[in-house]
Amino acid sequence: MNNLTTVRDWLETSKNTVILTGAGMSTESGIPDFRSSSGWWKNIDPHTVAHVSALENNYDLFHEFYSMRLTTLDTCEPHDGHYIIADWEKRGIVHTVTTQNVDGFHSKAGNQNVAELHGSIQKFRCAHCDAPATREAFIEKEKCVHCEGNLRPNIVLFGESLPEDSWMIALNAIREAQLVIVIGTSLEVYPVNQLPTMTKGRTVFINKDITSNANYFDLVIEGKAKEILTNINQLLTR
Ligand code: NAD
Ligand code: APR
Repeated sequence: MNNLTTVRDWLETSKNTVILTGAGMSTESGIPDFRSSSGWWKNIDPHTVAHVSALENNYDLFHEFYSMRLTTLDTCEPHDGHYIIADWEKRGIVHTVTTQNVDGFHSKAGNQNVAELHGSIQKFRCAHCDAPATREAFIEKEKCVHCEGNLRPNIVLFGESLPEDSWMIALNAIREAQLVIVIGTSLEVYPVNQLPTMTKGRTVFINKDITSNANYFDLVIEGKAKEILTNINQLLTR
């Protein structure tokens, strides 16, 4: 039996399956990841633009980086892999999606039960008083209408803690899961990289590059998210 048929069998027998994704889930939609050879952090030091201190120390660079990420996102759509995971939720095969991605593509593809652990780049607020703001106001680099503070996207930056509600949803789901499938992440970032170690269920890792971070998984499949998900789905629909 090959790895894909094993995952098909585990998906069919599991009564509670959780998917955990990272930036590698969206590269085939045209969105760069962070630590691959073509990733954002290859040319930019993340702590200059993606650390909470950037809001105070160099807002111009922070604004330029996230405006550029927003325009990249405008030309991208969820791919077949996102739609397969949404279909699996509809069919009762997958129960919760937890993601480090801020692109909103799992919800856009149709998943209802999604925990966005690093927030969403599609929502905005004042960095000083948290008042909600519009995308247009952020792109135009306007100030907060209430306190004149700078505006920011609702994503979790380096040095910030994760949204409590999303974290608890993900933690409870993972703890109760009979099967956790992790897709497209380097497992470099705390605390999300701890989640797969917190389940009593089986664990599967699907990733383009396999590193020692994956040593503890029950099953490791080296490959690209869209292709692997498509192949597993074909076995499921048989
Ligand atoms: P950091 O690397 O300084 O880690 C923050 C805290 O987590 C520190 O107390 C550190 O000791 C602890 N920590 C870090 N890695 C750990 C690990 N593998 N095991 C146990 N403890 C670990 O800070 P950071 O990387 O800038 O991220 C801090 C927060 O920002 C985290 O909650 C992270 O999810 C969030 N965040 C980070 C990124 C990112 O790109 N790193 C992106 C979005 C959100
Ligand atoms: N299919 C499968 N895996 C892929 C694909 C693909 N098409 N494309 C890339 N990958 C893999 C890469 O090999 C890499 O191991 O996905 C992983 C992406 O890892 P990172 O770039 O580190 O992204 P991620 O793990 O999501 O980063 C976590 O870091 O900077 C922060 O906020 C950011 O949420 C992000 C966090």
